[in-house]
Amino acid sequence: QTATSFYEAVGGAETFQRLVATFYREVAADEVLRPLYPEEDLGPAERRLRMFLEQYWGGPRTYSDERGHPRLRMRHMPFTIGPIERDAWLRCMRIAVAEIEPETLDDEHRKALLDYLEMAANSLVNAPF
Ligand code: HEM
Repeated sequence: QTATSFYEAVGGAETFQRLVATFYREVAADEVLRPLYPEEDLGPAERRLRMFLEQYWGGPRTYSDERGHPRLRMRHMPFTIGPIERDAWLRCMRIAVAEIEPETLDDEHRKALLDYLEMAANSLVNAPF
């Protein structure tokens, strides 16, 4: 018996590629978030987030091969993340998740993904306002 990972169950690389591309489309247009991203080109940041999420959900481990241990809280310390930034990040993510159709992401997987993203965003808040 083979256990199917969440990554495979929701369509693998293509789904994560679309999710993160939509997320960064929203970031690029977001006046709270866009100024936080240090690089002019959002492409490299998009790739890092995609690799991280693929690895977290049981896909390829390219993120850690390239970046080592995620240590996300530490890596976010250079950025001021208060409730406003967290909410902006989650708003962009919820739009991205909503654009994945139900045939690809059923209710159960959708809920697991959204719950995780909310928990993770809360865990990275490092400023009171
Ligand atoms: C990197 C902002 C939440 C995963 C970054 C960067 C910024 C940022 C500005 C630098 C861009 C880059 O060069 O990669 C935020 C804000 C958040 C947030 C404002 C709001 C709470 C999250 C969450 C996750 C995440 C919830 C994971 C589920 C990552 C990853 C990187 C990153 C994997 C690249 C780390 C590296 O390898 O250098 N984030 N982030 N972020 N973020 Fe976030």
